[in-house]
Amino acid sequence: MLNKLCDIARNAGEIIRSATDVGASVREKTSQRDLVTKYDLLVQAFLQKELLALLPEAGFLGEESDPSRDLAEKDGLFIVDPIDGTTNFVQGFHNSCVSIGFAQRGQMELGVVYNPYDGELYAAQRGKGAWLNGVPIHCQDHKLDQSLLIFGSSLYYRELVPETLRLFQLAFPLVQDIRRFGSAALDLCYLAAGKAGAFYECRLSPWDFAAGSLIAREAGCRVTQIDGTELNLLGRCSVLAGSPIAYQALLGLFN
Ligand code: IPD
Ligand code: CA
Ligand code: CA
Repeated sequence: MLNKLCDIARNAGEIIRSATDVGASVREKTSQRDLVTKYDLLVQAFLQKELLALLPEAGFLGEESDPSRDLAEKDGLFIVDPIDGTTNFVQGFHNSCVSIGFAQRGQMELGVVYNPYDGELYAAQRGKGAWLNGVPIHCQDHKLDQSLLIFGSSLYYRELVPETLRLFQLAFPLVQDIRRFGSAALDLCYLAAGKAGAFYECRLSPWDFAAGSLIAREAGCRVTQIDGTELNLLGRCSVLAGSPIAYQALLGLFN
């Protein structure tokens, strides 16, 4: 099944990579900052059709679909972000991805994250490991002061600006440097591939972190909410992730 998800992610990524007239198709959702394009909708429709053809009994939770349907009773759940990093996509900043997670009984089982611009495909299966383009990946074992910290700005929730910056200010003197790339799914994969040490964001939706959290965990990272509690796969929550050393240090610092 993981290989099939990888194929579907690659095909979906091709829709993103070959998109034209992106600017003309931008629409605001909840605010000026919360954007959707016709490609978000196109990719989601493609993923929904392909994934449910693979497993018709499963549920489907996607960023662009009606969140009111009851998903708890389904046997298996696809948790999908058709384009994670929509603002990057709109700006022509090539750091966006297709994110496909598959959960069963409240636990992530499979995750695939694909950046169609550089061809990097991250994948993981619970208990089996994580891979970048088929090669096993592992998190870093650097100390906090040798780790890059990636943060997300929770840009759709203005009320979280002070908390986001409070954590930034606490961590900044203690880490090597801080980055903001604009796709939470890819951020988690960068930890998995040992390109950075830790990540936090004060509020994300399940489609932002479902696949990436499994990929990061399977590569050896710790991934929880910022207060150390388990992620919520059916609702919004904060995320703190990192190599065990960096995660532990930030967990203590932030709480
Ligand atoms: C967003 C990205 C971004 C994160 C936001 C997410 P979208 O997803 O993952 O990095 O900071 O919180 O909502 O809207 O581009 O799919
Ligand atoms: Ca997203
Ligand atoms: Ca999205």
